[in-house]
Amino acid sequence: MQQQIDGQRVQEFAGQLMGLYTGSMLSFMVDLGYKTGLFEAAAKGPGTSQEIAERAGLNERYVREWLGAMTTGSIFNYDAASGAYSLPAEHAICLTGETGFNLAPMSQILAHLGKHVHKIADAFENGGGVPYSEFRPEFTEVMDSMGRRRYDALLVSGYLPAANGLQEQLQRGIRAADIGCGSGHCVNIMAREYPNSTFVGYDIAEDAIAKGNAEAKEMGLSNARFEVLDVTEIPSEPKFDLITAFDAIHDQVDPATVLRRVSEALAPDGTFLMIDIKASSNVEENVGNPTAPFLYGISVMHCMTVSLAHDGAGLGTVWGEQVARRMLAEAGFTRVEMSDAPDPLNSIYVCRE
Ligand SMILES: C[S@@+](CC[C@H](N)C(=O)[O-])C[C@H]1O[C@@H](n2cnc3c(N)ncnc32)[C@H](O)[C@@H]1O
Repeated sequence: MQQQIDGQRVQEFAGQLMGLYTGSMLSFMVDLGYKTGLFEAAAKGPGTSQEIAERAGLNERYVREWLGAMTTGSIFNYDAASGAYSLPAEHAICLTGETGFNLAPMSQILAHLGKHVHKIADAFENGGGVPYSEFRPEFTEVMDSMGRRRYDALLVSGYLPAANGLQEQLQRGIRAADIGCGSGHCVNIMAREYPNSTFVGYDIAEDAIAKGNAEAKEMGLSNARFEVLDVTEIPSEPKFDLITAFDAIHDQVDPATVLRRVSEALAPDGTFLMIDIKASSNVEENVGNPTAPFLYGISVMHCMTVSLAHDGAGLGTVWGEQVARRMLAEAGFTRVEMSDAPDPLNSIYVCRE
């Protein structure tokens, strides 16, 4: 029997789709604003397209068209009488500066991952995936700019305090490792804050390790080092007192082995601090979470595919609390305390044996 079609709902859904495409297009415009310095230029005060273009040292015609998108997209205001565009102060907080509120860098992930959409479509048909190597070196840069302001704001004051007594241990002096360290910014922040402790950052990517080393040198740190290492092979001796993983387990090819090696490499009273995406492992429990579609999308476009590319577990970004807890228990962690991170996207797992 043919299903009755509700014309009104068709219209509404078509509108919803067009809204999605408009939002996606505006995300590219935000990316352009971030890359060209237009938000910083506009935050200096209202100006015509000519004035804003001059402040940013850019081509006026491009800037005017971009301002058209910004204005009709409710990001800027426009005063037709004076021809002045203005970025409201509240919007400027979310689009400029060095605080964790600056979300402009996050827009970059769309263009970056979007480059691989054809290959990912192919993987839907033929299996496999797009390996990490195809995302590099840009991936390291994008992750760094997406995360560094948040880590500057929250790592020491918000993430580490979740583990009782850890900060005191770090102050006294312990051995710590960060696995899947990416650009190494977390290692360098901790090394600067806790000069009595020593830190090593492990990543499989040479470009990431080079970045970590360069920043450590720039910061004059003698207690931070970086090493190219597949973390399925974390050395089990000498033991670490602390191992951290920031957003670095769910995209592993072999996460079960990584977690087991972490547990084996820890001293008996050591801590594994895992910061990972806040979600349920059950899709029905993620309905209504406004960022869930973004997270599942990132998973398809990156976190799951990089694992499946090597015939891996393909946990994906939204592996969720239930799967995480099961895998941590299987790896030997008998005490796992989970709490909400001080940012809206993550959970903190404090794991001890
Ligand atoms: C999503 S990024 C997170 C980077 C960083 N922790 C951050 O928060 O910005 C995951 C990182 O894990 C690294 N990685 C993935 N699999 C790895 C493995 N088996 N061994 C070492 N590093 C790995 C990747 O190269 C990448 O830099």
